[in-house]
Order: sequence, then C-alpha cells, then structure tokens
Amino acid sequence: MQTVVHVLYMLASVLFIVGIKQMSAVKTARGANALSALAMGIAIVAAMLDIGLHGKIGWVYVGAGCVVGAAIGAGLAMKVTMEGMPELVAFFNGLGGLASSLVAVSMAVLTWSSAGGALRDGSVTSWDQVITVVLSIGVGGVTLTGSMIAWAKLKGIMSGKQIFLPAHNFVNLVLVVVTVGAGAAAFFVVDPKETTTLYALLGASVVSSFILGVTFAIPVGGADMPVVVSLLNSFSGVAAAMTGFVLYNNLLIISGSLVGAAGMILTIIMCRGMNRTLGNVLFAKFSQSGGKAEEYKNVKSGDPVDAAIALANASNVIVVPGYGMAAAQAQHALRELSDMLRDRGVTVRYAIHEVAGRMPGHMNVLLAEANVSYDDLFKREDIEADFKTADVVLVIGANDVVNPLALSDKASPLYGMPILPAHEAAQCFVVKRSLGAGFAGTKNVLFESDKTLMIYGSAKEVINRVVEELKAS
Ligand code: TAP
Repeated sequence: MQTVVHVLYMLASVLFIVGIKQMSAVKTARGANALSALAMGIAIVAAMLDIGLHGKIGWVYVGAGCVVGAAIGAGLAMKVTMEGMPELVAFFNGLGGLASSLVAVSMAVLTWSSAGGALRDGSVTSWDQVITVVLSIGVGGVTLTGSMIAWAKLKGIMSGKQIFLPAHNFVNLVLVVVTVGAGAAAFFVVDPKETTTLYALLGASVVSSFILGVTFAIPVGGADMPVVVSLLNSFSGVAAAMTGFVLYNNLLIISGSLVGAAGMILTIIMCRGMNRTLGNVLFAKFSQSGGKAEEYKNVKSGDPVDAAIALANASNVIVVPGYGMAAAQAQHALRELSDMLRDRGVTVRYAIHEVAGRMPGHMNVLLAEANVSYDDLFKREDIEADFKTADVVLVIGANDVVNPLALSDKASPLYGMPILPAHEAAQCFVVKRSLGAGFAGTKNVLFESDKTLMIYGSAKEVINRVVEELKAS
C-alpha cells in the first residue's frame, strides 16, 4: 500500500508540473486548471491512504475537513465574478499560509511531547527541523495576514491608500528578528516542565509573523495589490514547501516549490511590465499628481460616427483594451463590434499588454468571458511591430500602456516601460471619459497626436453607439 501511495504522489506531482506548464498559454490554461484539480484530487486520495496506513489520525476527521473545505471553496469560486478574482486568490493564499503555520506549530509541539520535552534529539540539534519549522511559521503567518490586508484593500473594505508607520522598515526588521528568534529559541527549551516557555516562544513567533504580514502589506497602494497578491502567492508556495520538509512529504515540497517559483516569476513579469523594481512597488511612496486636462494642447475629439466610418473602411484594425474596458464592462460590446467588422472583411486583432488593467491576465479573462477567440488575442511582443501597418487602432480605456512618453521621457514615471505603439498607426481612436490620467498619473502625448481622435464617454456606451452606426450604415 505504501508503494501505491508513493506512485500516486508521483503521479500528482507530474500532473501539477504539466498543469502549471500549460497555464502559460491562454489556449491551454483551461485544460491545465482541470489537470491541476485532478492532481489535487489524486493527492488527497493518496494522503488519505497514507493516513490510513499510519492509523493515528481518524479518516473521519480528515475526510470531514476535506468535504467542508471543498464545499466552501466551490461555493466561493462559483459565486465570484471575474473582477473579484484577485481578492479571492488573495483570500485562498492567506488560508494556505495559515495551514502551513498551523502544521509547523503542531509538529513542533508533537515533537516536543514525544521527545519528552525537547525539540532536539539529545545534544544534536536538528537544524533542518529548526529552519523548516521557523520558516513555515514565519512565511505562513506573513502570508495569512498580508493576504487578508490585500483582500480587504481589493474588496474596498480597507482604503487603497498607502499607510506608513514611523520607522516602518525598522519595525519590519524587528518583527523579522522576533519571528525567527523566538521560533528558533523554542528549539532550545529542553526541560520537560517548561511547557509554558515553549508555548510562549512559539506564540511570540506566530503573533510577530502575523503583525509582520500587516506591516508588509499596508504600505502598498490598492492598485499595486495584484503584485503583492502574486508575491504572497509565491510565499504561500514557499511555506507549503517548508511544511513538506517538516512532514517529510515530497509532493508538498514539489507543489510548494512550483507555486513559489510560479508566483515569483509572475511578480517579476509584472514589475518588468511596469518598469518598476519590486522594492519600488513594496516600499516607495507613490504620487499620482500629473496628467491634468490643462496640460494638453491641440487635442482633437470625434464621435462614434467618425470611428464607425474609419473602422468600416479599414482593412487592418488593432484593438488595445485597458483598465477602462474592465471598469465599463465593455468587452461584450467590443466583441459584437469586432464580429461586425469581420463580417465586412476587416481583420481585427486584440493587442494585450502584460500590465493592462489591474491584475495579471485581466484583459484575457474579460475577453474570454465575452467569447473573443483566443486566436485573436496577441501578446505585446507578438504584435507591436504590426502597429506601423495598422489602418486604425482602437484604444478602449487604456492609457499608460499606450503612452509614448515611456519611450522618450526620462523624467516620466513610465520611462522604460514597454508600450503598445498606437501612435505608429495611420489613425488612432482613444475611447475614455476625459483627458484624465491613468494609473501612473502622468500626461499621455498620444492624445495630442495629429493622428489621434479622442471619443469621450464610457467605453461600453461609446462602443454600443459605434455598433449602432455600423448597423445603420
Ligand atoms: P490606466 O493607465 O490605468 O488607464 C485607464 C484609463 O481608463 C483611465 O485613464 C480612465 O480615463 C479610463 N477609464 C476609466 N473608466 C472608464 C470607463 N468607464 N470607460 C472608458 N474609460 C475609462 O490603464 P492601462 O492602460 O490598462 O494601464 C494599466 C496601469 O495599471 C499601468 O500603469 C500598470 O502598470 C498598472 N498596474 C497594472 C497591474 C496589472 S497586473 N495589470 C497591476 C498594478 C498596476 P478616464 O477617467 O478619462 O475615463
């Protein structure tokens, strides 16, 4: 039976690896999710068999926990809207961190009682256990409360404003020292009568890690929260991997490492996409004061009729969606417009910038929800060269991701960020409600270009009017 358990763990590990690989392409991501869920199912069956073999913990308790957890998870996942996805991910990350922290504390206490009052074996300190338990408690605790702050900020329960304490970085440093120091010190309590000291030290480590999670997340502004969610996702993976070492469970080590690495890679992609360092996202004070209407000269505006005429006469159109499309929920109207143009023989492609919107894949999920074909979605690097030959570029609620100042103005907060070069097309329509700034709070010279016509209004209404004009023509 033990061999069966090992084979099932191995199978689950392989499926997790294949699943996460397939997540990297939009086309295969849905299947990858199913594959990973299957892997998790296999892992649960294997863990239950494992528990049965050792016979110490009742199947009933673990099974009941699985059923209740699965029911809550399924209920929350079915209820969540696409825009609510980042906060749900943050919430689930947090619970993952809590699980790791709880397992580490219980293992420490179990080892203590079974060794008759020592977390170490005679005079030989098991440093692997010290390191993994301490990291599991620390990273798990930070993940729990940091994720809950991210959840509250994204959900609007907490203000999205940055909050800094006096000597914030010093406070963080003290908390790191207390979390690690108290956790490690617990291993040196060897007197069997000193249970109180053991609990006090483990408790201090846990509480300090919880406070650290809060102080880690509060300085980050609401709009940067997806980066923190991704980083905490990575932390939850590291905590799970550490728990794997504590429990000597290879599957947990492999799956935790996969989550840790994937979350870190996504964090780096997002930071690069914004041309900001992780340190800047986590610690810098962010001011969004520029990009006021009075900074613009010679901006030309048009109306939906102008856009309808230009689009109907074009043969090659590129659509650039941004945060405003999500805010206006304009994706369905946009798909209707693309379908109509295609029926008229116009080529329509969507250019997706890696940080368009407010979360990774924000545009992809919304467009997929509106049944836009995956084949019509192009990553920035795969389509940026084609803007030069586009007849019309339709910018829908995007701003920073099409700002040419990112290429030329060293003083711009966007300098160095790769953009979608809408300014290179023969004609550009920008649909947004005003000349208001985007996330970076800076002027966008695309709006002043001779080739640009601004169409003011909420994205959904404007697109619907363009559709009506096309139907009428
Ligand atoms: P933004 O630069 O934020 O611009 C969005 C524009 O949408 C605004 O200028 C706004 O202008 C317009 N808008 C808002 N509501 C609208 C509506 N109902 N109808 C039409 N337009 C509307 O968006 P972007 O170009 O997608 O760039 C994303 C920014 O977010 C980047 O700076 C990126 O670094 C940052 N960011 C992204 C992420 C991820 S992972 N995607 C994470 C953190 C930060 P009006 O008010 O004039 O309408």
